[in-house]
Amino acid sequence: MSSKINRRDWLRYNSLAAIGLGISFKSMGNEEGIPRSFGAPEGLINLGSNENPYGISPKAKEAILGMLSEAHRYQFNVPSLQSFSAEIAKYCNVKSDQVLITAGSGDSLNLLARHFNKGNLVTATPIFATLPNTAKKVGTKVIEIPLTPEKTHDLPAMLRAITSDTQMVYLCNPANPSSTIIPTNVLKNFCVEASKKAVVVIDEAYIDFLEAPDSESMISLIDKNPNIIVVRTFSKIHAMAGLRVGFVVGHSTLIDGLDKNYFSSTQMTVSNLTMAAALASLKDEAHRASCKQKNEAARNYTFSALKGMNINCIPSHTNFLFFPLGKYPGDFAQDMFKKNTIVRSNNYPDGKWARVSVGTMDEMKKFIELMKLDWKG
Ligand SMILES: Cc1ncc(COP(=O)(O)O)c(C=O)c1O
Repeated sequence: MSSKINRRDWLRYNSLAAIGLGISFKSMGNEEGIPRSFGAPEGLINLGSNENPYGISPKAKEAILGMLSEAHRYQFNVPSLQSFSAEIAKYCNVKSDQVLITAGSGDSLNLLARHFNKGNLVTATPIFATLPNTAKKVGTKVIEIPLTPEKTHDLPAMLRAITSDTQMVYLCNPANPSSTIIPTNVLKNFCVEASKKAVVVIDEAYIDFLEAPDSESMISLIDKNPNIIVVRTFSKIHAMAGLRVGFVVGHSTLIDGLDKNYFSSTQMTVSNLTMAAALASLKDEAHRASCKQKNEAARNYTFSALKGMNINCIPSHTNFLFFPLGKYPGDFAQDMFKKNTIVRSNNYPDGKWARVSVGTMDEMKKFIELMKLDWKG
């Protein structure tokens, strides 16, 4: 799509795409449901996909430019990329046969849903929908346990829901769309208990936004426990959503099984340029720290400004905010869209809720200005 496309054409194009896919624009948390042609024409504030607005690391940019001269080669013929999995494994403190690289973590989640396709899946609702949606498509029964009133995973209820038919349990920490976390020890205990009966997948897409001790990954459990799997992505703190790389960390036997079910050489699914960028990005701690700090400042500003309007966001540990829309009449996301701003909103059994990604401070100031103009909650 041309970058010069005007807003009217863009809206028409995207609503046609949405109709074509039989989906509704407001399907929050359902990344499967987002028209893939979404772009961001000038002036549009995109607070809909939890992207990192600060862009990729300058070192990653340099690495991409450097790798252009090898773009005609397959990955396995580029010496500097042969150790890609090993480098990711080193970063995670595991062995290379405990890592499977995929084209974004959505690809990992789809693979897991297709691989563990018997019996039922126990998960939360609402939750990032890629894995549950794919599970439903392949015929797996999905048991969805509502979040608690505080919008955290209801772990005791999830444990109770596991039966001898349960093949997989899926949760997100931090959670999407609710932005909450599970305390490390509570999550560890849950993983150990649940994994006695089923495979437990912990999606840690937003873990890099956390501070210790909450930032401890469940990767430490996988060595001893072949039923625990962690999924990670470069799309969030690394700002590489468009470059597509994510990975699964698990016991070597499990990774081997998944690998056989995936395109034979996992390194073939991710481009040379992306791999070079990922390796460089891992080494740029300063860029990650700066993104995290700017995200926190913009998040705190937005949280307080909304609070000043009597909108009580769930305390967020991520790069997005989740808040109840109260008595808001109509469709909040559609209304904001008319004002050039993409956010998500949805109806749940306990009312209407919005999910708003944390953009730059300037973007959040504009968002708050719009909110103040005619908030109807
Ligand atoms: C919880 C969670 N997991 C996974 C993903 C998928 O990200 P990607 O496919 O870009 O790695 C997202 C994207 O928003 C997410 O929110």
